[in-house]
Amino acid sequence: MDRNLALNLVRVTEAAALQSARYLGRGDKNKADEAAVNGMRKMFDTLAIDGVVVIGEGEMDEAPMLYIGEQIGKATRDSIKLDIAVDPLDGTTAVAKGLSNAISVVAVAPRGCLLHAPDMYMDKIAVGPKAAGKISLDETVETNLKSLSKALNKNISDITVTMLDRPRHKELIQRVREAGARIKLFQDGDVAAAIATCFEDSGVDILMGTGGAPEGVLAAAALKCLGGEIQGRLHPIKEEEIERCKAMGLDDIYGLLTMDHLVRGKEIIFAATGISNEELLKGVVYYENYMAKTYSVVMRAETGTVRFIEAIHRLDKKPEYAK
Ligand code: FBP
Repeated sequence: MDRNLALNLVRVTEAAALQSARYLGRGDKNKADEAAVNGMRKMFDTLAIDGVVVIGEGEMDEAPMLYIGEQIGKATRDSIKLDIAVDPLDGTTAVAKGLSNAISVVAVAPRGCLLHAPDMYMDKIAVGPKAAGKISLDETVETNLKSLSKALNKNISDITVTMLDRPRHKELIQRVREAGARIKLFQDGDVAAAIATCFEDSGVDILMGTGGAPEGVLAAAALKCLGGEIQGRLHPIKEEEIERCKAMGLDDIYGLLTMDHLVRGKEIIFAATGISNEELLKGVVYYENYMAKTYSVVMRAETGTVRFIEAIHRLDKKPEYAK
């Protein structure tokens, strides 16, 4: 895959972040999401790729843009066929309320390499490179924490488990507490939280709990580039979700989804831009004279290169981001 696509993907997440960040704290998650989708879609239109959305804003009848199956880019005869996974705004509520952890993310891989995860919950466990291969969603919380403690050479009391702050995690929280580990809860954005496990300075060692399945695929793309590991298991809660899995041809709905199920191969590029501050990326900052700064990361699984990109944007020259 053309490595220069990496910088273009940063442009895509920057565009989404610049538009969405205007809605920070303004109480309207739909507008914040719509702005991110618009920004991302327009920038995608400028790329010479033959992409199809496999993780997006919903089915065609639910979303006007970036819907599943939508054709993306100005394909030429030489363009390579790509699967595209997007979350123009992971953390819609976070932006609406003016809270942290909202990012814009995109992942691309050759056609057929990204799991077409249905829009439902997924149980997840994610760790950084030192613990990759040492944890399993099939194991108990206690066993995983013991394995992690060994892999990281840390006492369990020095381990920090991060998870979404949701009532459904009551029992999980209890078990982690009883095992003696620390807990860091967050309100929204479990793609960013999974990525944080790959950076020791983030202070979090493992992500546990249940979040969105599409976000699980996006996190897997990032963790493949970073050498970490995420495992998932679909967690349908309604009868219609089970039916949807069957209609999609998933024979083993509750099967363990390993890294290679979620994201196949090594030709993966992942990019993200901060919208509101999170562990790794600052949110969009506005400066005097119509300037704004974005903080992004882009990585490739083939080479393992991770680039952090700070960009200054002259909003007077980009009227679409000016308000
Ligand atoms: P949205 O941006 O779609 O609101 O998703 C935010 C998020 O926190 C995800 O990161 C996470 O996977 C999911 O919601 C969890 O779902 P729920 O809010 O229903 O617990």
